[in-house]
Amino acid sequence: MGDRWYSEAVIYCLDVETYADSDGDGVGDIRGLIGRLDYLARLGVTCIWLSPIHPSPNKDDGYDATDFYNVDPRLGTLGDFAELLHQAQNRGIRVIIDLVVNHTSDEHPWFQSARSSPDSAYRDWYIWSEEAPDDRHQGMVFPGEQNETWSYDRTAKAWYYHRFYKFQPDLNMANPKVREEVKKIMSFWLQLGVSGFRMDAVPFIIELTEPGNPNSPKDMEFLTELRQHVQWRRGDAVLLAEANVEPDQLPVYFGDGSGSGNRIHMLFDFMLNGRLMLALAREDPETIIDALRDTPKLPTGGQWATFLRNHDEIDLSRLTTDQRNDVLAKFGPDEEMQLYGRGIRRRLAPMLGNDRRHIELAYALQFSLRGTPVLRYGEEIGMGEDLSLKGRDAIRTPMQWSYQPNGGFSTAEPEKLVRPVLDTGEFSYEKVNVTAQRKDPRSLLGWFERMIRTLREAPEIGSGSTTHIDVPLPAGVLAHRADGPTGTMVFLHNLGTEDVEVDLSTLQPEADLPVDVLSDRGYDEVGKLDRLKLAGHGYRWIRLCRSWSV
Ligand code: NOJ
Repeated sequence: MGDRWYSEAVIYCLDVETYADSDGDGVGDIRGLIGRLDYLARLGVTCIWLSPIHPSPNKDDGYDATDFYNVDPRLGTLGDFAELLHQAQNRGIRVIIDLVVNHTSDEHPWFQSARSSPDSAYRDWYIWSEEAPDDRHQGMVFPGEQNETWSYDRTAKAWYYHRFYKFQPDLNMANPKVREEVKKIMSFWLQLGVSGFRMDAVPFIIELTEPGNPNSPKDMEFLTELRQHVQWRRGDAVLLAEANVEPDQLPVYFGDGSGSGNRIHMLFDFMLNGRLMLALAREDPETIIDALRDTPKLPTGGQWATFLRNHDEIDLSRLTTDQRNDVLAKFGPDEEMQLYGRGIRRRLAPMLGNDRRHIELAYALQFSLRGTPVLRYGEEIGMGEDLSLKGRDAIRTPMQWSYQPNGGFSTAEPEKLVRPVLDTGEFSYEKVNVTAQRKDPRSLLGWFERMIRTLREAPEIGSGSTTHIDVPLPAGVLAHRADGPTGTMVFLHNLGTEDVEVDLSTLQPEADLPVDVLSDRGYDEVGKLDRLKLAGHGYRWIRLCRSWSV
């Protein structure tokens, strides 16, 4: 199992431009991040996922690249990046980067050449139609901000396809040259030393778009090809994909059904994300139990990546209307908190009313569920959002390091900052920052450090199976277990606000020396597992037994 490092990883995602600014120009940079690696090592994360780092006009926060073989000069140089890899490795931290190859920026030289003439060598790198396709007003990912998926380009005198914004023309994956180029890009970064890729928009990468056909076929084999390629170049490299598709589609992203996963190693669990939010909103674990039961069996090497928050809105589109309304009513009641009619543009702490016990409960739950946990920067100190910013920028404000001006993110004048630092209200940098929390072991940051270290002592969570413990329990309580070669962990989480008592004595025959390894407070000894007290919003992680032979 040790070879599958990603199964036991704790992934931390950040955007270099909002993390730490080393040269005072108002934009976070790679050298700033290098200076914070010790902080990340202490937090206990084992892998960082960097949002896009390539040169870009930044109309979609870097998800619109103009050069896949370089680093945005605002963030540093390729030399700085190589140094980051070295310094991270010294601290046992791996780095994966966002690979955004479904599309380029419309300012990318490939697109500029493609549009300039039908004879351009790059014309067929994009997807064109001479006529206006009938389905051009279908399939928009950003409804409200985007009103078509095909736009007319006057220079090209043709329509081009863009699944996302108009300035993000889709690359044509039916073209073998484009496929080769994608592999070359991956090879380049692997050669530099990244441990893999967070692959953006995978369902669209494999789409073989046909004008007029809103259900164009998908070429799953391309994923097999990419996996093979990546694995030949670097045996332990990982593909972590964004594929927010119907649950019955998920298995084919992991593999072709032959048993061993031969496509994507890890998929973000969007379904669980929505259900976690629903369970928290309703104080009822039922949907999580369903998720544990319904999860398709993964092929060897396949793994889920769990998350509560990321850099996008919380996408509730896979919930039913009633379910979605319950989550919105609880966590995003004001229209300004909502986005695209399907999501919430908020961070977790404000959604949970900045209630420390509730925040701990939510993260203890996420981290204990099956899969590899992914944590968004700033969540470990309970940062808030800035709803005065446009769209998803609300949750992309700079990291709050200290009491210093700009929260210690940058020494630039505030108006020069890439995005304003939160400086008012209960989430302002003066109230929420790393410096304050670092010296207080009872802080949320201190709790995250402890929780992550406990998790790393419990490899069952990432590599073992996770199942619901199906015994009668008080309302609001979820009991689940993780079994692996190293032993068994049992988890109790109380989503409700009432104090309760839980009877897990049926597990007693399996227990050797059951002990609380993480809990919201000091509870009485575990005893015979028959009278386990659990406070409202409380949690207990109990080690049931350890296999001493391993
Ligand atoms: C998904 C990313 O998560 C999102 O932030 C981005 O806007 C789109 N893909 C387009 O690349």
